[in-house]
Amino acid sequence: MSVLTSTLRERAEALRRRAEALEPDAEGRRELTEATVRHAEEFLEALKTGPSWYPPRESSELNELPIGPEGQPFPEILDLIRREVEQEGLNPASPRDLGYVPGGGIYSSALGDYLAAVGNAFSGYFPASPGAARVENRLVEWIAEIVGYPKKAGGTLTSGGSVAALTAIIAARDAKGLRSEDFSRASVYVTSQEHYSVRKAVHLAGVGEAPCRIIAVDEDYRLAPESLAAHVRKDRADGLIPWLVVSTAGTTNTGAVDPLDAVSDIARSEGLWHHVDAAYGGFYVLVPARREVLRGIERSDSVVLDPHKSLFLPYGSGAVVVRDAAHLETFRWRAPYLVDAPQKEISPSERSIELTRHFRGMRLLVPLLLHGTGPFAAALEEKWVLACYLQDELRRWKDIEVGPEPQLSTMCFRYRPPGRSEEEVDALNRRLTRALHADGRIFVSATYLNERFWLRPSPGIFRTHAEHIDEFLELLKGFLAEL
Ligand SMILES: Cc1ncc(COP(=O)(O)O)c(C=O)c1O
Repeated sequence: MSVLTSTLRERAEALRRRAEALEPDAEGRRELTEATVRHAEEFLEALKTGPSWYPPRESSELNELPIGPEGQPFPEILDLIRREVEQEGLNPASPRDLGYVPGGGIYSSALGDYLAAVGNAFSGYFPASPGAARVENRLVEWIAEIVGYPKKAGGTLTSGGSVAALTAIIAARDAKGLRSEDFSRASVYVTSQEHYSVRKAVHLAGVGEAPCRIIAVDEDYRLAPESLAAHVRKDRADGLIPWLVVSTAGTTNTGAVDPLDAVSDIARSEGLWHHVDAAYGGFYVLVPARREVLRGIERSDSVVLDPHKSLFLPYGSGAVVVRDAAHLETFRWRAPYLVDAPQKEISPSERSIELTRHFRGMRLLVPLLLHGTGPFAAALEEKWVLACYLQDELRRWKDIEVGPEPQLSTMCFRYRPPGRSEEEVDALNRRLTRALHADGRIFVSATYLNERFWLRPSPGIFRTHAEHIDEFLELLKGFLAEL
């Protein structure tokens, strides 16, 4: 060995000793894991009685993180996470979180994530991790199958509904052969109830100049097909290119599901791409009692579903499926540094914006295999029933106005005493919402419907049961008495 070689070897050994904290032995791993599990157990047990909302803090220790060359003791890190992350703002794991479109984060999915992170499989590229790629490919096929798409469908698992929507809109752009000179004439049809992620996706896909038509909704906030047909006819007569219609299966405001079958009819006869934003409602296809509401979803061209909403997975789980996978060709790229092995199946990265990606299939695979789909279907139906139960109870209260019948797990209501102007009613309901937030036990979010302020409890977490709805009703009774 030359002097240089032996010096380099000694240097490598010295660096290895300095870095050895990154490779704890079995005993070191056990200690870290046990402390983590103890912490997680305390968190989970506290959910039974704890609040769903913690008030904002004046200052945060996170603004002065002690990141330096030396590490910190693990118990102190866990304490910091408890104080500064878990105990401020919303607790989206709490059964008392009835805000936005919640899911909760099931435990078995966290275990799948743990295994995915420990194994660190390269799920984007089939030759590197055939098993991981197969897991993701089979899961996409499963989603396509429950939606009712044909075998030629394809898609990808994403970080959430927004990236899934962007993937679908890029497919829609290319499938219709739009070129830059067409963009300012390629009309998009949405309703006022659409989630902003879809129009943001149109913008991000480069088609932001596309004229956007706001289609009328009926009294239940569902897209009115005759309004869509009229807009398309007019645009065509005016020389525009009707391109994309977006319907929603589970709007964020009220949980409304657009008439998907009727929209598909118009889309097919007019040559429009029909995209369904089923980020919230898509997995209700598993619930026989709700299947009819979603009829027609199987005739759409693309669909987005969020397992982190209606499959109760932790945040970071979306999915997109396109009826004909050929329209995802735009995502397939080749490179000289990715030619090392034969590929028996498509690589997930060939249908995705991402190459190296979180192996998110594991967080979906483990719960589906461990529990089967039955408990998911039951939990989803329970959430719908809870929303109906809340609606039924509140409808009978004095001076309470309720919104449309819940199609999924969201209901809307407002306090409306007689003799008050609409502005006064809005102000009262804002006060009610603020009082609920300040109390913190049960979190509900609010929205505007026809420019009026409504509360919109959405019992979507798998841990939320009838007793939590009763708790909410009790709390509400008290605050209404104070108003
Ligand atoms: C109906 C609907 N679509 C899309 C999205 C966006 O999904 P994500 O937040 O996962 O990006 C949401 C989010 O709440 C939603 O409610």
